Amino acid sequence: MSEHQQSLESFWMPFTGNRAFKKNPRLIDQARGMHYYTPDGREILDMVAGLWCCNAGHGHPKIVEAIQAQAAKMDYAPHFNFGHPAAFEAAEMLAAIAPEGLNHVFFTNSGSESVDTALKIALAYQKERGQAGRTRLIGRERGYHGVGFGGISVGGITNNRMQFSNSMIPGVDHLPHTHLIDRNAFSRGLPEYGIELADELENILTLHHPSTVAAVIVEPVAGSAGVLMPPRGYLKRLREICDKHDILLIFDEVITGFGRLGDNFAAQAFDVIPDIMTTAKGLTSGTVPMGAVFVRDEIYNEFMSKPGGAIELFHGYTYSAHPLAVAACKATQQVYAYEGLFQRAAEMAPVFEDALHSLKGEPNVIDVRNFGLMGAVELAPLEGQPGVRGAELIQKTFDAGLMIRITGDTIAFSPPLIVEESHIQQAVETLRKILRAK
Ligand SMILES: Cc1ncc(COP(=O)(O)O)c(C=O)c1O
Repeated sequence: MSEHQQSLESFWMPFTGNRAFKKNPRLIDQARGMHYYTPDGREILDMVAGLWCCNAGHGHPKIVEAIQAQAAKMDYAPHFNFGHPAAFEAAEMLAAIAPEGLNHVFFTNSGSESVDTALKIALAYQKERGQAGRTRLIGRERGYHGVGFGGISVGGITNNRMQFSNSMIPGVDHLPHTHLIDRNAFSRGLPEYGIELADELENILTLHHPSTVAAVIVEPVAGSAGVLMPPRGYLKRLREICDKHDILLIFDEVITGFGRLGDNFAAQAFDVIPDIMTTAKGLTSGTVPMGAVFVRDEIYNEFMSKPGGAIELFHGYTYSAHPLAVAACKATQQVYAYEGLFQRAAEMAPVFEDALHSLKGEPNVIDVRNFGLMGAVELAPLEGQPGVRGAELIQKTFDAGLMIRITGDTIAFSPPLIVEESHIQQAVETLRKILRAK
């Protein structure tokens, strides 16, 4: 083994074929604007915002400056029984852009922590309001809610569950996924067919009885499973059914939050307001790990209405509202607002849509789908070898100066919101060339 390969061995990489990667590493060590750079200076166009997170683009000077200044002023602040004013300011800034009524923010360090926090708040809330029998949680097939035990339990990606035997949290059921490729292939925006998939919730509730269910959690647009759109009217229908049975609706907006769909959150883009909303990623534009769970007033007030000054929620993280994350969050939110990046995402969405759909008819392309600045191109799997075609594309696109995200044989795009038409064209033409060369 060469010295270079040896130096890669200690890092057990997440969600990566370590052995394959370490034989042929794709290393990056600088980033600016829309681009990453390899150690030997090759430019890579970032069409996934890192990992769906760097919405403001890389190395924004205002965000960099804020993090540097905070590191020099106060490194760490405990938020168990003490408080850093900037954390309260950040929460207020976030509440101001949140969907109506979700005015309270619990800080975490990641999407996975946000999801587990949201599930715990939902269960605790049911208990607090005297509905302790509501313990069931309902997720969805092909949902991704991070890697905590709560998240993989409500999540619906088989590989993420099966390696851990039966160690899921009990009392979880799943809605069917919404990817009806036979009926909805090449839809522009939300697909037409499939609203009835939301009615499956009624069947699940009939089976278990609604009075046993605490919450339903879905991604408004499923990201990690390959950008799966909600059919038109589907999310509204879910909301109606949850309301009818007094069940909490949780939107996991870890990807869809902070401008990805051309509005603050998917809740606003789709005009469906959840009771709890999980976020991370774009919260700090990926610069410092941070998550935030937004909670409706009634839920927060239920916890605060008990007499006495005791702890209301037995939950929290050493790094909840870490000063560096808070500084990054505040600066990021200011950048989004001053530069109008959510509006920009809405304006670029039709350009992005046309460019992606121009790949219809290219070899092996079986679907193209998009909403806002989130899109996917799905390829037919190689006979008997699902995922192989996709895996090869990671290397081929990287060699051609393009970073994309692959799930199975689906290519996902979620560029930083500063993306320009020329970047979109470059990405699509690079991919077209690779598809035709196969
Ligand atoms: C919808 C959703 N929820 C949760 C997560 C987990 O976030 P993290 O990797 O920060 O724990 C992700 C990550 O991609 C996600 O897309």
